[in-house]
Formats: sequence, structure tokens, C-alpha cells
Amino acid sequence: MDRNDLIRLLEDMSLEEKIGQLVQIPGSFFEDDFIITGPANYINYTGEDLALAGSVLSILGAGKLRAIQKRFMDNHPHHIPLIFMADIINGYRTVFPIPLGQGAMFNPQLSRECAAIAAEESAASGVQLVFSPMADLVRDARWGRVMESTGEDPYLNSVYTKALVEGYQGEGSDNLRAKGRVSACVKHFAAYGAATAGRDYNTVELSDRTFRDEYLPSYKAAVDAGCDSLMTSFNVLNRIPSSGNNYVMRTILREEWGYDGVVISDWAAINELVTHRIAGDEKEAAYLAINAGVDIDMCTRCYCGHLKELVEEGRVDERLIDESVLRVLTLKNKLGLFENPYRDMDEEKEKTFILCDDNRAASRRAAAESFVLLKNDGILPVGNGEKVAFIGPFTDTRELNGSWSIFAGSEDNMTIEEVLRAENLDYVTAKGCRFGADYPLMGMGGADQFDELSPEAEEELLTQAEEAARGAEKVILTLGESNHMTGEASSRGFIEIPRIQQRLLRRVAAVNDNIAVVLFTGRPLDIREISDTAKSVLVVWQPGTEGAGAIVDVVTGKISPSGKLPMSFPYCVGQVPVYYNELSTGRPYSAGNDNKFLSKYIDIPNAPAYPFGFGMSYSAFDISEVRLDKSVLSKGDTIKAEVTVKNTGSVKAAEVVQMYIRDEYASVARPVRELKGFTKIELEPGEERAAVFDINEDMLRFTGADDVYRAEEGMFTVYIGNDSTTENEAKFELV
Ligand code: NOJ
Repeated sequence: MDRNDLIRLLEDMSLEEKIGQLVQIPGSFFEDDFIITGPANYINYTGEDLALAGSVLSILGAGKLRAIQKRFMDNHPHHIPLIFMADIINGYRTVFPIPLGQGAMFNPQLSRECAAIAAEESAASGVQLVFSPMADLVRDARWGRVMESTGEDPYLNSVYTKALVEGYQGEGSDNLRAKGRVSACVKHFAAYGAATAGRDYNTVELSDRTFRDEYLPSYKAAVDAGCDSLMTSFNVLNRIPSSGNNYVMRTILREEWGYDGVVISDWAAINELVTHRIAGDEKEAAYLAINAGVDIDMCTRCYCGHLKELVEEGRVDERLIDESVLRVLTLKNKLGLFENPYRDMDEEKEKTFILCDDNRAASRRAAAESFVLLKNDGILPVGNGEKVAFIGPFTDTRELNGSWSIFAGSEDNMTIEEVLRAENLDYVTAKGCRFGADYPLMGMGGADQFDELSPEAEEELLTQAEEAARGAEKVILTLGESNHMTGEASSRGFIEIPRIQQRLLRRVAAVNDNIAVVLFTGRPLDIREISDTAKSVLVVWQPGTEGAGAIVDVVTGKISPSGKLPMSFPYCVGQVPVYYNELSTGRPYSAGNDNKFLSKYIDIPNAPAYPFGFGMSYSAFDISEVRLDKSVLSKGDTIKAEVTVKNTGSVKAAEVVQMYIRDEYASVARPVRELKGFTKIELEPGEERAAVFDINEDMLRFTGADDVYRAEEGMFTVYIGNDSTTENEAKFELV
């Protein structure tokens, strides 16, 4: 079909049919076997709503979806196919590390490959559009959804959203029609990650400059990479919820960026304009949302219940509806659905491709690359005949996927214990304790979880752990947050490991202090006690299907860790939000200064426990001083900044070389420094290589005091090193 065919189709459709295209229905209304990802009790769809719907979410399976599609199209007046959408976040059935872990890889190319596998697997099961990437910048470790972001840096996030969109969609014209590809939907527009106090769905208060310069770039990168759909966020911005926010959805998105793709509300977000109290009822909510340019209403009856009446009353111009419908039809056409409504649905491929050896190998590789070594006083790696005990609640668990892997079963994973056995590694294991949520947890299925044990059973596990630790030379202690402690609606006020695990740490340390903690988490945690007690700390996030194998690979030294923190680990929750690219204050504090009236706390340090970009290796690297090929940059020109990196250790390993730039003086307060480039270099022992970065005027732009987005002339400092605190610097001037 070409655009004219689509317009002819549109002209031939009744108003009811057109509105149907703007309605997204949960899969349960077509079939029972589906997963609820939001409140659904108030949706009261009619038979007509279902017969005319434009898209369906959260239902998968090639056979099932083919049958639904056929039945639906046979009964639709214009035989327009549905689009099947789903939350494929860090993999479908082959699960990769959670996005925060993927950020830690500092390897967007590998994420691109993971996304391509996720696309091909889910497409075989009938998915045509995935609700990923989440481009939300995050700074508050209390927010449960930091696990779904790539962290606190606008540049890192932008590089990743681009890579993920390209991974899902492929590149080139007609890419969406290619086999094994899905359309990517970037979310949550905009600034959902800035929820006040880290409480999910809470208010966002941001200055326009911070919003534009730091929060928007990663969504924009996804749009520039060819993303054809975008999801609204639940939060208010400037006190107006996104789904009714003309400034965000029309002025910025459509007018400034020229975006002509589809906008989808988040789950029930149009209806929530009523609970936000900016609409008196669902009809007003529909009015506000359609005017803001929100094309698809996810899972409420606001559009199907009220748009027709609003048009008939003359309050909504039918042309507004037509614009939205045309965008939805255009997306369906880009996906080739008019010619092939069943696309990649393929039962045979579901059997052979999903979880195949190559996909599992990619999961293992990605997991190992995501691990971040925070401390290592000689415990890691283990091996060479050492007596090692693996202790802790994550030693015998298959729950390694993270909370968003709603279509993957943990039965496809191995536990660390099973991997040790399968690889003939003769190590002792002990559970030590339960995960130990300190409060009831609600899973995606809605079930309460509170894994209590009797005091006797608890004591027995702890005693077994002590025995295992006593007989070992080294202890690998697996601790952390379970899947259900992170993700949507999982904000936390205390960001420590559960109390029972703290007890386990103390009991084990009392009998053996050769401890390496392997830390599972979906967010930066306060790990003061762990850092003080353990000699080594390895963060493994929620690592995915092959996570256990990857942990064994890294712990035993087969692979040297190379991950870097994509988000600062705070000293304690009182510092949160703490992030490296903060603005310069009028009273900056530096350690050792005893002036009272500086920007600092009286009881805790300013610096996080572990900063953005930090991560160690089993090897060591020497980074030379920064060389610039010129010290004056004129607009339109490029400076080459270069260092030489040498592996001075004894094992092959990779280092992430990072370039930060500081604008020394500007018309508005600027971040103390900002990441502007990075490269991951793998080196043999003794090998050295140059890391070269280009610097140009584009990279130095920001919104100035006059509201113009441009670079201001003057001095800049460029830092190149292996984390965000490096002082390895050179200076240049922009003229
Ligand atoms: C709500 C979440 O905020 C969003 O990320 C997700 O894609 C939708 N539900 C659909 O499940």
C-alpha cells in the first residue's frame, strides 16, 4: 500500500471504525492466557470495541495469535489487521541482563545484538511491536524502575536507545518488513524517571533546561534512530500529566522534533487524567488526550466510549481523529501487515530458534560483560585447587531474569549450583538463608510474597552456612535483591540487602573473612557493610537466562570483569539522588576543607561509595596523559583527543576508556563534567593501544541563559580515564 491507498482506506472507514484503530485492548479480552501489567478492573469493553480494536497487548504464541488475527480480520468491516504489542524488555524467552546491567557493559553493540535476538524470538511468537527501549534518565536509586534504564547519564542513555532501536528494527528502508524484526516503542515520554522521592508514578518537578538538556536527549536519539512509536509517561510535567500535555506532545515532539509516528498512552494513563484531577471525567480526559496528539488509548474506554460523542458535539474536529488513524495505519503498513498480517508467526521457529544455543551463548556473554567488580582484595578469581564455598540465597535459585521478563520462565535457567556441577567444579554450596523480603511483595501476577521461615529453620540454614564457610579457604557469598524487589511499583525507602541476608553476612564473616560478595541487584544499593566486610565485591545485577554460567565464568577467572557502573552507588540513602554530573554550586566542597558553610552534609560524605563509570578488572591498566592535536577549536572543526592504554597486568582484559568534558564558564550553571565519549578496548597482557575521541562544537551545546541551544565560546577541560572521577586532563578553547 502507498500513502494514497491508506488515505482512501481512511476515507472509506466509518467514525466508529476509525476510533477503533485508536483503541488498544489487553489480550485477555481475546484469550484468557495473558499477563496483567496494570489495573484492569474497570475496563468494560463492549462487543463493538473488541470487533473494531486497532491493537492488542501482552498476548503471545504463534498459533494463538494467528487464530486471533484471522478471526478478527474476517469480522472487521475493512479487514484491517491488529498489531500485537508486548513488553519485551531485556529479551523474550532468552533473557539478557536487565537494562541497567546492559548499561554497565558500556557496549551498545552487544545490546544491539541482544535486541536483535529478542526481536527474532518474539516475532516468531507473533509480537510485532515491543515496548522498549525505556529512555528515562534515572538518578534516584529508590525508584524501582531504575532497573529498566541504562542509568544516570544522558549520553550513555542516548547511545543505548539508538542501539536498541536499531537492534529491534534493523536498519535501512523497509527494515520493518524484514523477517525477524519488530517495531520499537520508546518510553516513557517524558521524564518518568524523575519521580519525586523515587516513588513510582509520583510528581516530576524539573526546570525546562534540565528537562531539555539532560532528560530529552535519549528519547530524541530513539526517534532519530527511526522509532515509529512512543509511549507517554504517567507523571506530570509543569503540573500537566504527559497524556494531556500539549507542550511535551505537540510543541516539543511533533513541532520541534518533527516526529510523525504514533503516540501510545501508557496503561490507563488517559483515564488517570481524571485521578490527576485535570479532567472531570473520562470524556474530558479523552478530549485532552486527543488534543495533545495521543493516538492510542492503552487499556481504557476513554476513546472508544467518548470520542464519537465529542466529534458529534463538534468539540473534537474529525480531522484530528483522521490524523491519528493515519499514523496508526501508516505503522501497520510499515510493518507490512496489510500484505502479511501474520508476519513472522511461526510455530516451527518457536521450537528451534527460541532459546537456541547461539541465543543462550549471547546471554552468557552479555551477562559476563555486565558484571562490575567494585572491590578486589585478592579473593577473585578463585581456582587452582582452592577450597571454595558458594553460600547464599542466590546459589540455588533460577530466579535470575529480573522483574520485566514476564514471558520467560525461570525453568529455562540453571542455578549457580547446577552450573558448578555441570562443569565438574568441586565446590561446596549452602543456601544460608531465604531471599528474605522485609515486607510483603506483590508480583506481576498480583500474588503476595513474604518468604518467612520458622526461627528454627532459619537458624539451621545459617548454621549450615557457617559450617561450609569454616571448611573453605574462600567464600563466594551470593546476596542481594530478589526480582520482586525492583521494577515497576517497587520503589524502596531503604536500599540495603534484606535483614536476614545481613545476618548471614555477619555469621559467615565471623568464621571466615575471605569473602567475595556476588551482589544481585536491580538498583544501586547502600552496601557499606558489604564493602567493609567482604574483601571482594562483584555486582551481577539480574543477569538473565545464562546468568549463573556467566557468574561461574567470571568468578573462576575464565573472563575478567569489564563492566562499569552506569549509576552511582550511594554511600547511603540520605545522599540519593546522587549523580556525577551535578551542577556546580556556589559553595563547592572538597574533601579536607574545614569551612562549615559549604555544600555538604555534617554526617555523611558528599561522594558516592562507588562513582559512575567505576569498575575494576583482574588486570590493571595504565592510561597515558591526554594528548590534544590542537588547543583551539573553531566551530565546524574537530579536536582529536587521545590517550594510550596499556594492559599492565597478567591477564587478557578489557577497559572502558571514558572521556568527560567540563565547560569552565557559561551563562548558566553547568554540570561539573559530562560524559562525551567512551570506548571499550580489549588488550592482552603488555599490549597497548590508542583510544581516540573526536571533540566538536555540537557536543558542547546546551540551553543558555537566552534559551538558545548552542555552545558558548571559552575554555573547556577534557578528562580521559577509567571512571568519572579521573583528573587526567587537558584544556582547549572554543572560539
Ligand atoms: C505500564 C508500564 O509503565 C509500561 O512500561 C508498559 O510498557 C505498559 N504498562 C504495558 O505493559
